[in-house]
Amino acid sequence: MNTTLNSLETITSLERPPSYAQTRVSPVTATSSASSLELRSVSFFGRTLAEYAQFFALDIAALKGKSVLDVAAGPSSFTAEACKRGVDAVAVDPLYGCRPDALAAHVAIDYRAMFAQMRTKPGLFRLGKAFASIDEAEESRRAAAARFLADYEAQFVHNRYVGTALPQLPFLDRAFDVVLCAHFLFLYAKQFDLSFHVEACRELVRVSRDEVKIHPVLGLGGKRYAQLKELRAALAADRIVSEIVRVDYEFFAGADEMLVLKRAAG
Ligand SMILES: C[S@@+](CC[C@H](N)C(=O)[O-])C[C@H]1O[C@@H](n2cnc3c(N)ncnc32)[C@H](O)[C@@H]1O
Repeated sequence: MNTTLNSLETITSLERPPSYAQTRVSPVTATSSASSLELRSVSFFGRTLAEYAQFFALDIAALKGKSVLDVAAGPSSFTAEACKRGVDAVAVDPLYGCRPDALAAHVAIDYRAMFAQMRTKPGLFRLGKAFASIDEAEESRRAAAARFLADYEAQFVHNRYVGTALPQLPFLDRAFDVVLCAHFLFLYAKQFDLSFHVEACRELVRVSRDEVKIHPVLGLGGKRYAQLKELRAALAADRIVSEIVRVDYEFFAGADEMLVLKRAAG
């Protein structure tokens, strides 16, 4: 481990909220499998509103005045950009509550590791749809992180960013019209098991009034979440209807679907 990682560990051990220790082991570390992204921990990595709109098939104009919760939001700029457009958006992540410079340090380390790995495994990505090149993706996602960091510094105190972790959320039942969760559930199946996923999905539905959208429905190896059938059966037993919906988006190869959850009618 290099000195930068050591100094980040120092920052995070001083600043991590209690839930953080249960959900994150260490900064992102690449290993050598060519057929899969290999991440030992959940990366602090984020996308723009434009990407969210594509992989969640969102009509942003129609969300104006609605409440939207972005869960496991990381350094995504969705919430900052959505609020600018009149959406009542709130983001949650276990790392929120850290100082802005500590979050910037997470971004610096995790982005460097992630893009290094993406460049050594170009076969895992479909170029030409979401992005023409890895360079273009890096530019977009670094811009997302910069926008997030500026908004976090200004808005954390106003409760736009809430430090908390699935499988429990500190919100009332049906508090948000729409609940989103991108690039957390299912991807890290080595760290989070089926019971975690079932509990997390129930919690996302509990705090939603209308629907929950989860993307992608894949593991890091690019295959559909292996326990999707069991997950959907457990949710159905709780009267939660689930639907796999194809979306007009693909960057990580195969990540062209979302899982939509709703309470069963009646
Ligand atoms: C890869 S980022 C995804 C960011 C954003 N949703 C996107 O798609 O661009 C995953 C995030 O999940 C967060 N995370 C880790 N454990 C979590 C938990 N138990 N509940 C909620 N978020 C968690 C991490 O801190 C990290 O910021």
